[in-house]
Amino acid sequence: DKGGWSSFMAKEVAEEPDAVAKTVLGRVHDGQIVIPELDGMDELFQGVSRVIVLACGTAYYAGLVGKYALEQWARIPVDVELAHEFRYRDAIVGPDTLVVSISQSGETMDTLMAVKEAARLGAKTLSICNTQGATIPRESDAIVYTHAGPEVAVASTKAFVAQITALYLLALHVGRVRGALSAEVGVEAIEELEALPEKIQWILDNEQGRIEQLAHWMTDTRSVLFLGRHVGFPIALEGALKLKELSYIHAEGFAAGELKHGPIALIEPGQPVFVMVPSPRDGATLHSKVISNIEEIRARGARVIAVAEEGDAAVLPFADEVLRVPLAAPLFEPVLSVVPLHIFAMGLATAKGLDVDQPRNLAKSVTVE
Ligand code: F6R
Repeated sequence: DKGGWSSFMAKEVAEEPDAVAKTVLGRVHDGQIVIPELDGMDELFQGVSRVIVLACGTAYYAGLVGKYALEQWARIPVDVELAHEFRYRDAIVGPDTLVVSISQSGETMDTLMAVKEAARLGAKTLSICNTQGATIPRESDAIVYTHAGPEVAVASTKAFVAQITALYLLALHVGRVRGALSAEVGVEAIEELEALPEKIQWILDNEQGRIEQLAHWMTDTRSVLFLGRHVGFPIALEGALKLKELSYIHAEGFAAGELKHGPIALIEPGQPVFVMVPSPRDGATLHSKVISNIEEIRARGARVIAVAEEGDAAVLPFADEVLRVPLAAPLFEPVLSVVPLHIFAMGLATAKGLDVDQPRNLAKSVTVE
């Protein structure tokens, strides 16, 4: 039931604040992350020496964001791999490896087979999943459910923000169990986490109309590029994937630092480029590097659409459009900056008269390899 919305996707994007809130709900006690499902697993978390995250598509991009959180808070090395790539190489995995799979449906064959392969090689497996009782969680040693609620539109939106949220919870939990996380950092992180739903709501309330208008103007666009750095990089990839899936426009995401190693050759006058701008408060280094990327592409005629923190005046002289997101600590920015990109992809497809819930050639859950 679309509940009065024009599409399931419109409803699911509107539910992004809720998807985050419900995933956190019941998992914070006395200023600490407590994940009841992981009771009795402390020894396992203390004993593992590395994490491999396995997933496909949008869930893989959530995993890429999770790497920054797990490494920073839990001080554990993390590799993030496409499940189908993991399975067919001679992966070095053993009992000291924790494999974290991420899947909205819990039925993705590529991810399931990779998890089974990892278990066969002796790894411990933990599933982050949105569907109670699905196959992947049943095949795993541990489960952390995301509580985004059923996702009906084929392309993933609210499940993505819930997956990143679950990875924050896991990283904070494992960080505490391993003694890697100070109480102070933990408390600050929980405050940030709990403030996210309201901030996403702010974007929906204040920016959605403008972004849809922008999408409307861009219906004849043939190619869109997305640039991001650090945690903004996986969001650039997600923005490009969603635009391809929903609007059938050619779109690519790049690491901003790669620009001069190749992608800058694509820039010609009028080329639209979304740039994920890190907060200027993050020691300013990343921010100023991304600003100089913007100058470089602008000098070559790019049309820059910056996704930037509210109050970041430095982007104004260089951007053709600025999509605002509320302030958040660096690791939490992705959950906010992805929202304008979801709205944009959905808005452009809608403006083109396409079916956003059921894009051509795609299936909600890919149960074949
Ligand atoms: C993108 C999308 C797909 C899925 C991927 C994994 O919008 O929906 O890329 O993210 O097929 O699906 P799950 O999470 O069900 O394993």
